[in-house]
Amino acid sequence: MSKEEKKEGSNRRELLTMGSAFAVMGIGGLAAGGALLKYMLPVVSYGTPQKFLVPVEDLPDVGDELIFDDMKVVLRRMSENKVAAISLVCTHLGCTVNRVETGFLCPCHGSQYDTDGLVVGGPAPKTLPWLEIKSVPGGQLEIDTGTSLPEGSDFPIA
Ligand code: FES
Repeated sequence: MSKEEKKEGSNRRELLTMGSAFAVMGIGGLAAGGALLKYMLPVVSYGTPQKFLVPVEDLPDVGDELIFDDMKVVLRRMSENKVAAISLVCTHLGCTVNRVETGFLCPCHGSQYDTDGLVVGGPAPKTLPWLEIKSVPGGQLEIDTGTSLPEGSDFPIA
């Protein structure tokens, strides 16, 4: 092997070594960047959960209601075997309405609803949404605040 061939071989080895080093650094950089990105992005939801559970044994008597302030829902026992849920979120600009003797009253701009959530006054453009309820295992009902059903929608208590 000539002196020039040895030098060329040595240059090739150095080039391969440098290439490998850059490849390792690149992979490491990508991994570190991915870890940093994962750390910077939030992994929690700050919104109110859409669904919540109510044990059947906690249901009110027929004709009575339970108000879940934190979920902005009123749960109404329609009959021995039927239950319904109405959203307490005003259809005008989203304030929480209060339950009053005549129905619901919004403290923000004065919208008034009857006991079924139908608009009877104020700027609210539509009825309070009635919500979907499902029976789930364990003797519980699941109320979905993300639904919007027509007024009068009730569901069986399984
Ligand atoms: S938000 Fe209820 S009347 Fe405006």
